[in-house]
Amino acid sequence: YDTKTPPSSTGDPTSFAYVSARERWPVIITQAIDDVHRSTWATKDEEESKEGKWIVSELARLKYELQHNRELSPLPDEGESDIAGYNKELEALGRPKWHNVPWLYSECYLYRRISSIFTQTQKWKSYDVFARQKMSSFQSSRPAVLELAARYKDIVTELESKHTIKGAKTQEELEEAEKILFVEMCEICLWGNATDLSLLTNLSYEDIQKLQGSEARKESEKKIVVNDLGKAFEVLTLAQKSREKDRRVDIVLDNAGFELFVDLILAGYLLAAGLATTIVLHPKSIPWFVSDVLPHDFAALISALADPQNFYTTLSDVDKHAGKTPIPLSESEVSDLKFLFEHWSRFHAEGQLVLRPNRFWTEGGSYWRLPKLEPSLWEDLKESELVIFKGDLNYRKLTGDALWPATTPFAEAIGPLGPKSGVRVLALRTCKADVVVGLPESEDERIRATEGGGGDSGARKWAWSGKWAVVQFCDGKA
Ligand code: F6P
Ligand code: MG
Repeated sequence: YDTKTPPSSTGDPTSFAYVSARERWPVIITQAIDDVHRSTWATKDEEESKEGKWIVSELARLKYELQHNRELSPLPDEGESDIAGYNKELEALGRPKWHNVPWLYSECYLYRRISSIFTQTQKWKSYDVFARQKMSSFQSSRPAVLELAARYKDIVTELESKHTIKGAKTQEELEEAEKILFVEMCEICLWGNATDLSLLTNLSYEDIQKLQGSEARKESEKKIVVNDLGKAFEVLTLAQKSREKDRRVDIVLDNAGFELFVDLILAGYLLAAGLATTIVLHPKSIPWFVSDVLPHDFAALISALADPQNFYTTLSDVDKHAGKTPIPLSESEVSDLKFLFEHWSRFHAEGQLVLRPNRFWTEGGSYWRLPKLEPSLWEDLKESELVIFKGDLNYRKLTGDALWPATTPFAEAIGPLGPKSGVRVLALRTCKADVVVGLPESEDERIRATEGGGGDSGARKWAWSGKWAVVQFCDGKA
């Protein structure tokens, strides 16, 4: 049940897989080592400190094996059900080496292997080695967070008190305004993905902040190569008009911090506008691709909003060292953020905003395997009006991370999740990897010819940086 189209491989010198395995992953492991070092140094618990040193040595071993192109070793059986699947696949791949192995599998393996190091200890079992980075990056997206919070409060207050949107007088105008807002919220949600931390190794913070403001967003619309948001809006309004009582939208989450914040903005908007009655969020179960959402990241975000002044005036160690002084929030900023806290907590408490983890999301294969490998999750997703897949990795998993011609229809590239599957798929993806499908004829060539697009190097460089995006929809219920 995998695609027959060959997968992207770390052995292909024209691919981002090649750069990732050789340049990005060693940096990510080094950052993990630094993090554990800091925590080990800070603890007074002897056992914890001893285990911390062991973790550092295991991470260093992993980095050595990666950089010296050794074989990927079988994962130790630490009791979780997914280990057997990872190891079986390793056998089937013929004990591959790091520098020539399918990209998707090896990158998942990398994070699974890191996680298994922690689970083998007593004191570090639930330690999230990327938590520090996630929270401090959320702190530095403050300007965009404040801008969005104010806007969200305005829109939602209007919708909930007057059941309308500012300026809309007739039903048609209201629908039109709802569509414009839906598209805007989704685009905010899309570009929120450009800020993931696994890319920070080649994008500066300044680059990232530029990607977050509203001016920037308008400019970025030109960078959405395919945009199916209109189709997604249509299915949600149709369901709303049919007066079905339960209308659920799912979001297969990607990154924590700013991206999760904008996912919640979209979720809250859909609920307030009546475009959905329940939102189900799907987080990861282990620290994943540096910045992906774990259940505790959701809790951390909500508690940051519960006491925003404290959150924004408590400096991270790095900022303290840099001699920064905290700038307090104004009264209205505090009140906007608290409004979000109350709004989202209420939805959460009333069961309209649900978190539903599943180990499937951190397995090593593509989503082509979902219906067969995890039938109960698959059946559950069929209950939804629309399943939104956020980010680059989800897109790679949808398409099997395979070397499709760029003009392959999206519906074909997602295999069993395509037409007549019973699930409606919407991918919101900023491009950070080679695979891209569903493009009009010669669009790939056109963008390759732009600055930094890759030219005739044989590499699709434009799709690596997170600066271009695709929004693709497939109606599996049609
Ligand atoms: O391109 C860098 C990369 O780490 C990819 O390997 C991976 O698919 C992606 O970023 C993770 O990004 P996202 O958080 O958008 O899934
Ligand atoms: Mg991610």
